[in-house]
Amino acid sequence: MRIQDPGFINANIQFCGSPNICMYLVKGRHYALLGGGVAWEVPRLEAQLDQYQVDRRRIRYLVISHTHHDHCSAVPYLLRKYPHIQTVASEYGAYILNKSQPVQMIKQVTRQILDAQHHPHQHNGIPLDFQPIPVALRMTDGDHLDLGDGLALRFYLTPGHTRCSLSVYIPELQALFPADAVPFPDIRNGKFTVTADHRYDDYIRSLEKLKALSVRLVGYEHGGVLAGQDAAGIIARSLAATRRQRQRIRQRFEELQDFDRLVEETAGKYQALPLFRQVPPDVIRAITARMIRSALEET
Ligand SMILES: [Fe+2]
Ligand SMILES: [Fe+2]
Repeated sequence: MRIQDPGFINANIQFCGSPNICMYLVKGRHYALLGGGVAWEVPRLEAQLDQYQVDRRRIRYLVISHTHHDHCSAVPYLLRKYPHIQTVASEYGAYILNKSQPVQMIKQVTRQILDAQHHPHQHNGIPLDFQPIPVALRMTDGDHLDLGDGLALRFYLTPGHTRCSLSVYIPELQALFPADAVPFPDIRNGKFTVTADHRYDDYIRSLEKLKALSVRLVGYEHGGVLAGQDAAGIIARSLAATRRQRQRIRQRFEELQDFDRLVEETAGKYQALPLFRQVPPDVIRAITARMIRSALEET
């Protein structure tokens, strides 16, 4: 079952944001917000929290899965408005979120998108501008945060999509929140969109790590939730699909013997997917080139 509409997934998990940019509010005695969202969807998030009368004082943690702009650009607003919230990221994520060049880049992209959407650069008087994010808690493999009421967030470093990717697992709910660290499944045709943007080897190793978990719910940060039968064995299937894709890339390179042509061909396929419709072609091309280079590396 695929859930693409925001709302309650179960008694403990509220899906916020939109089908494209998803965030999850996990409710124990304390709350945790998973996903750093985007600046231009802040009004929607606030409205959803209002709609379900969420007491913001109970939101103790905000987990930033990785430092792509579409996963962290709502965070500066949230920290300005709710300074008691403690941000959570990987060690490398915390470094990037305070490094001048990536911060400037996210700031610029956020501004451009706000302008393109004729969106004000503030919400209720609070700026939506991006700025360095102080990370209160740096998580590594096996670390956990207790939310009370029998719920805990368990963390896994899952590099490959980015070097800083951090996944969350809630054992009590068998719920996994991998953000972009695992391929996006299309349950209509059984295909997977592999996003090994940083390094194929790491991406595969991260999937192998997650495969050991018992999963009956996956909350992606794009495309919503997978639950029930569709979620069972999803990581093993994702891993198999990733290996197949790597094989296809290698085979195609053997046929073409032309790296640039292979990048062009593959980037075209990614560009055609609804998920990447808003990403500029040169960015897709650069990401695809990096991914193919790492797919061709000797293991
Ligand atoms: Fe990403
Ligand atoms: Fe993303």
